[in-house]
Amino acid sequence: MNSLLQHYWYIVAESSELTADKVLARQILDEWLVVFRGEDNKPCVMRDKCLHRCARLSKGEVSKGLLTCPYHGWVYNGKGQLVSVPAHFGQRKEEVMNVSHAFACIEQEGYIYVCLSNKPLASKPYAMPQFNNGRYKKVRLVNVFNNTLANCVENFIDIPHTAFVHQGIFRKKANEQIKAKVKRENGHIQIDYENEKNNLGSFSWLLNPKKKVIFHQDNYYAPNITHVIYRLTGKWEYRITSQTVPITNETSIVYTEICYDFGLWNYHPFTKWLIKRQAQKVIDQDMNILNDQMTVIKKYGQKFSTTSADLIHHYTSEIIDALNNGLEPQMLPDQEKEITFWV
Ligand code: FES
Ligand SMILES: [Fe+2]
Repeated sequence: MNSLLQHYWYIVAESSELTADKVLARQILDEWLVVFRGEDNKPCVMRDKCLHRCARLSKGEVSKGLLTCPYHGWVYNGKGQLVSVPAHFGQRKEEVMNVSHAFACIEQEGYIYVCLSNKPLASKPYAMPQFNNGRYKKVRLVNVFNNTLANCVENFIDIPHTAFVHQGIFRKKANEQIKAKVKRENGHIQIDYENEKNNLGSFSWLLNPKKKVIFHQDNYYAPNITHVIYRLTGKWEYRITSQTVPITNETSIVYTEICYDFGLWNYHPFTKWLIKRQAQKVIDQDMNILNDQMTVIKKYGQKFSTTSADLIHHYTSEIIDALNNGLEPQMLPDQEKEITFWV
């Protein structure tokens, strides 16, 4: 059965890194990709393999939107079409002669997305909530995790690890019981936490000084996106979107977008610096634990033991397993449950 993972949109590059004269080599789901901008400045993503003798196109050069292969100089335009074969026709530009392996790509919200199938399951990539709302400021981080898509997304919406891995920075161990409603429908999992107040670690004094219950909702959108919302007392709010791009079976790139509204603090230059620094610390801690986890999995295999506190993990991995087996997530039964666990 063919995996359905290739029918989704994945970030292949940030818009800002793909200047007109750049050629990028990327990899998604084990597919080698070359990325460049065509004559109309629109991005083009192709298999990183020349049609002629299989040279790596990403080692070629782009000029005025045309990509030249480094081996015999075949030239491709921004639609992925072959437009010149120097040894056959001389250097003059010829008619479009062939269609190469170009993939669908869309530039949106500062990212270039690609779909490796000609039948994407959605017409557009996920739109990040509040991304275009001027009230919010933004911080973006990009990191490589040596672990699978499933283990990365599980981590990004896992609460119990935070008191151990991120102790102090993000959450303190309090031995408090947390309750949540978990709902799964059509590849979307929504988790609404009901009684959270002790989760802001060393910045609690600023973010939640009276230790009131705050709004906390986690979302997972199949196959690779998590979106976490914290709404603090007053109007302050921050949202973290993590897009995990599976590079191979054991490596992922994670694009983290933090949108925040901290009132007047939004305009203080220190705020952005601090959020970026704290977020990177948290991500470094997750990378450490996940990289180690993968070394153990490689040695002993991935066999997990699970309790009822792992319900969310169970739901996400069921969805990813279904996709790997060629099943669309809406084929799985809808679920709605309450969970409690201790943090
Ligand atoms: S291999 Fe690309 S032009 Fe020959
Ligand atoms: Fe974490």
